[in-house]
Order: sequence, then structure tokens, then C-alpha cells
Amino acid sequence: MTEHIESVKQDFALDLEAATTREHLEQVRIRYLARNGLIAGLFEEMKSLPPEEKPRMGRLLNSLKAELTEGFERKSTAQESAGARSGAIDQTLPGRPRPLGSKHPLMQTIDEISQIFRSMGFSSAYGPEIETDYYNFGALNFPPDHPARDMQDTFFLSPLKNVLLRTHTSPVQIRTMEGQRPPVREIMPGRVYRNEAVSARSLVSFHQVEGLYVDKGVTFSDLKGTLVAFARQFYGNDVRYKFRPTFFPFTEPSADMYISCFLCHGKGCRMCKQNGWLEILGSGMVHPNLFKNVGYDPEQYTGFAFGMGIERIASLRYGVDDIRMFYENDVRFLRQF
Ligand code: DAH
Repeated sequence: MTEHIESVKQDFALDLEAATTREHLEQVRIRYLARNGLIAGLFEEMKSLPPEEKPRMGRLLNSLKAELTEGFERKSTAQESAGARSGAIDQTLPGRPRPLGSKHPLMQTIDEISQIFRSMGFSSAYGPEIETDYYNFGALNFPPDHPARDMQDTFFLSPLKNVLLRTHTSPVQIRTMEGQRPPVREIMPGRVYRNEAVSARSLVSFHQVEGLYVDKGVTFSDLKGTLVAFARQFYGNDVRYKFRPTFFPFTEPSADMYISCFLCHGKGCRMCKQNGWLEILGSGMVHPNLFKNVGYDPEQYTGFAFGMGIERIASLRYGVDDIRMFYENDVRFLRQF
């Protein structure tokens, strides 16, 4: 009987080895380990042995059974995990569609503005969000301790107040001019920061697009022509506009640009606060001091610059009455763009 046990053991090893599919493996289990299998047959055979041999043979058979069961289980788990890795997946099933995302409305607005200016020969430039006092204020002709600095509440990053989060994209004008000789035709989109109370109309971080055009003989008519061409492409051909004098340290003269309210067409509504006009950007002729600061000859070159707030432009255009919505990333809001 010992020989019989030995041959069952060897056969099992060979059969197990040859079992490459799940069905095949199941047949091996039935042949050896099932209730009428070969192991059960050996236990049956043991009954006819003389009583003194039974305990030893019992022990042998029990360990054989344990060994075969373990071998079978090892192979079975190995086969399952290999199956999960390859064959067990039905590759003919159609794939599960993934919902497609889209560009954020603020980025769409920046893209659209950039595209319009690109068609007029402007390229894009970028600058750092962490700036020095020099680029954010000094080089832009804000004198030290001048009240103009209070126009924009600043987040300072260093105790000496010389490193800060830029309050506008105008410092990129300086960096751009430092890096190249005229002619300069750039727009400069980016994120800016201001230490203000958050409300439906103002955020501590928002976006601007800056523009700069410097060459020989650039005039205020070029400024108006360019910005009117932009407004017509962006808001529609029938848009009316006006420029109103204002003050910026970095431009002289300076002007705010307004367009007729596209919701009420100038009659007065909630969007334009009943006055028929919407302010869309600040602009002006580049102050000669900026040219001196970057080493351009102010006798030779003139230029114009402008800056607009993207959240403002986008909220006016889409009739969003709380700009915080642009930052909540609620898909019910984002899906509308
Ligand atoms: N930097 C100004 C602001 O943040 C916007 C601005 C006005 C930019 C006039 C300009 C400009 O380039 O010429 O309010």
C-alpha cells in the first residue's frame, strides 16, 4: 500500500503540472480529492489492513491528503491571479466612457483675448507671481510712500516689505522691456493678489491680462484703435465705447475704457448699475520714467499699455453675479461654459 501511496503522489504532481485551465484543474481535484477520489479510495483500502498497521497508515494518508490539498490550492490561486491579469477580462465589451472635461471659463476668456490680440501681432509673455517691490511698484513709477501704493492692498512676504505677491500684471511690462529692444508687442496674462475682503465682487486672488505696445511713433490713436478693435471682436461690432481720463503712476495720460452695457444697450440695468456703461479696462501712454528704468530712450520711443481683470470681463460677459463661483468648481456651474 505504501507503493500505491507513492504512485498516487507522483501522478498527482504530474497532473497538477499539466493542468493549464481552470476546468482542467477542477478535473484534477475531482480525480484526487473529491469524495470518491483516489485519496478517499486509499482510506477505503486501509480498512482491510491488520489493526496494528492502521495507525501508521492513517498518519501517512492524512499527510498525503494535506500535501495534495495544499498543492491544489497553491496552483488554483496562482491561476486565478494570472487570469485577472490577462485572459479573464472580456476584451470584447465596449469600454466605459469617461466624462470629458473642458477648459475653465476663465482660461477660455484668457485664450479668447490672447487670440484677438495675436491676430493684431501681439505675442504672450509671462512673469513671476512673487515679485519684488521694485518690479511691482518702483520701476512702474510708484514713488516710495506715494498714496498710489494704497490703491492696491498688498500681501507682503518679507518683513522689510520688499518681496510681495504681485498686485497686478504690470511688473511683466518691466521684465519684458528689460529682456528685449523695441518694437514690443506683448500681452501678459496671469494671476494677481490683493489683500481685500472677499465678496461677490472681489477676491484675494484673481487674473489680469496686461498689454504693451512700444515702438517709434506710437500714439494715443494707436491705443484707441487697438482697444476698440479688441472690444468689437470680443463684445460685438455694435458695441459703443468711451474713454475717460484717470490716473495710473505708470501711464501719462491715462484712460479707463467703458463699453455700452450689452445687457440693456445703454438704457440702464442691474449689471451696469443703472448708468448704461461698463468699465472694462485701464490704459494709457507708457510713462517716460518706465523707459528710463529699462534703458529705452524716451525721446525715441513711445508706447501704450492696458490692463484688464479677467474675472470682471468674464462675469460681465456671462452675467455671473458672484465671481466666487469661478473658484468653487461646482460642475453645475462649469458645465454651462
Ligand atoms: N495695473 C492696473 C491695475 O491693476 C491696470 C492697468 C491700468 C494696467 C493701466 C495698465 C495700464 O497697463 O496702462 O489696476
